Amino acid sequence: MDKIIIEGGRPLTGEVRVSGAKNAALPIMAASLLTEGWNTFSNIPDLMDIRTTRKLLQSLGVVIEGTSGTVRLNASEISNIEASYDLVKTMRASILVLGPLVARLGIARVSLPGGCAIGARPVNLHIKALQEMGAEVALTDGYVEARAKRLKGAPIYFDIPTVGGTENIMMAATLADGVTLLKNAAREPEIVNLAEVLNGMGARISGAGTDEIRIEGVERLHSVEAEVIPDRIEAGTYMIAAGITGGDIRVMDCNPIHLCALVEKLRDAGMIVEPVDGGVRAAGNGKIRSVDIKTLPHPGFPTDLQAQMMSMMAVAEGLSVITETVFENRFMHVGELMRMGADIHIQGHSAIVKGVSALKGAPVMATDLRASASLILAALAARGTTELSRVYHLDRGYQDIEKKFSALGAGIRRVSGSS
Ligand code: EPZ
Repeated sequence: MDKIIIEGGRPLTGEVRVSGAKNAALPIMAASLLTEGWNTFSNIPDLMDIRTTRKLLQSLGVVIEGTSGTVRLNASEISNIEASYDLVKTMRASILVLGPLVARLGIARVSLPGGCAIGARPVNLHIKALQEMGAEVALTDGYVEARAKRLKGAPIYFDIPTVGGTENIMMAATLADGVTLLKNAAREPEIVNLAEVLNGMGARISGAGTDEIRIEGVERLHSVEAEVIPDRIEAGTYMIAAGITGGDIRVMDCNPIHLCALVEKLRDAGMIVEPVDGGVRAAGNGKIRSVDIKTLPHPGFPTDLQAQMMSMMAVAEGLSVITETVFENRFMHVGELMRMGADIHIQGHSAIVKGVSALKGAPVMATDLRASASLILAALAARGTTELSRVYHLDRGYQDIEKKFSALGAGIRRVSGSS
C-alpha cells in the first residue's frame, strides 16, 4: 500500500488549481440514468470515487466515454437495475442511483451502504420520502428494493437537511406525476449544481439552494451538456495549508461564495483571505489565533473541513472548541494528531484543542478521507518527517495532492508499498 512521506516546516507559496467537486460530480453522473442519449459533463475530477461511479453505472448498462475532465454517458439501454454490495460497500454515494432508477424504470434494487468510519449514516430519510411518493419499498438481504408504476409528487419534510436525501429525491421527483415540495432540504452548492443540470435536461425545479425546493414532474427528460462546479472542500484544504504553514497561496478556479463560513473563521484566526481574479488568496503570518468551530449544514461551517481546521487549531495560540454536529463519530484524526504532539481532549461532540508551539513528525494512519487531509496539513507544519499510511482514503477525494503541494514548495512524495 502506498505511503506519503512529508518533510514539514516550509511555508507554502504560489498558485494551485482546484479540481471539479467530487460531491457534485457523483450525483450528476447518477442523473444520467434519467435520460436517453449522450450526456456530456465537464470538469469531472480524476478520483477513486469517480472510477467507482463509472464501474457502478457501467454495471447498470450505461455506456461511458472518458474517465475524467469531459466524460460522456449514455443510459439509453439500462440492462440491470441492481447496484451490488461489492460496489456500494466501497462508496456510500452509490445510493444515489436509487431515485433515478425508480423514477425512470419503476424499479431499483440497491445494496444498503452500511455504516462507515464517521458514523452509522442510515438512508431512512431517502426511503421514507420514496414511500411518500408512492413507491413500495422492501428491505431484503441487505438490499433496498423499490417499485413504483410512476412516482407521485408529494410534500416531503426531511427531519435532517440530508444532502444525499435531497439529491436522490430531487432526481426522483423530476419524472413524478405532479409536484413535489421538499421542506428542510439541504442547501449545499452541489445541490444547486445538480438542479441546474436537471433543469438543463428539461426538469422544472425551483428553490435549490434554499430549504424549500419545488419540483414539478415531467413525462421525460433529454440529455444535456453541463459543467461540474469547483471543489470547495479541496479549495478550503489549500487555504488552511497557507495558514498552518505561514505561507501565501492563490487558490484558483474556486468560488469564494461557496466558502463564506470558512473565510470568516480564517480571518478570525488572523489570516489574510481576499478574492483575486479567478480565485482566492490565502496568507498566514505564522501566528494563528484560536477560534471555535461548530459544524452545521450549509451555509454553516462544513463538516468536511472540520478535521483540517483542527490541525490548524492544534498550533494556534490559545484554546479552541471544535463541535461536530453533523456526524456522530468524526474525531478519528484526534488520536493521530496527538501522536504528532497535539493537545486535544474530546468531551462528547466537542474537541478541546490547546494550541502547542509546534507539532512533530511521526508515522500516522489515515482513517477516512478528510482525516487524511488533516494529517497531511499537520505534517506540512510539523518539524521533521511524517509517514502517512492508508492513503487510499485520500485518493478517494483529492486529485494529484502530492503534485499540487510540491508545486507550492512542500517536501512531499508518495512511495508505493509492496503490501
Ligand atoms: C454528503 O454525505 C457528502 N457526501 C459528505 O461528504 C458530507 O460530509 C455530508 O454530505 C454532509 O455535508 C457526498 O456528497 C457524496 P447527509 P451524505 O445525508 O449525503 C444523517 C466527504 O468527505 N442521515 O447530509 O451521506 C446522517 O447519518 C463526504 O466528501 C440520516 O440520519 O450526508 C448524518 O448524520 C463525507 N438519515 C446527517 O444526516 C438519512 O437518511 C447528514 O448526512 C440521511 C442522513
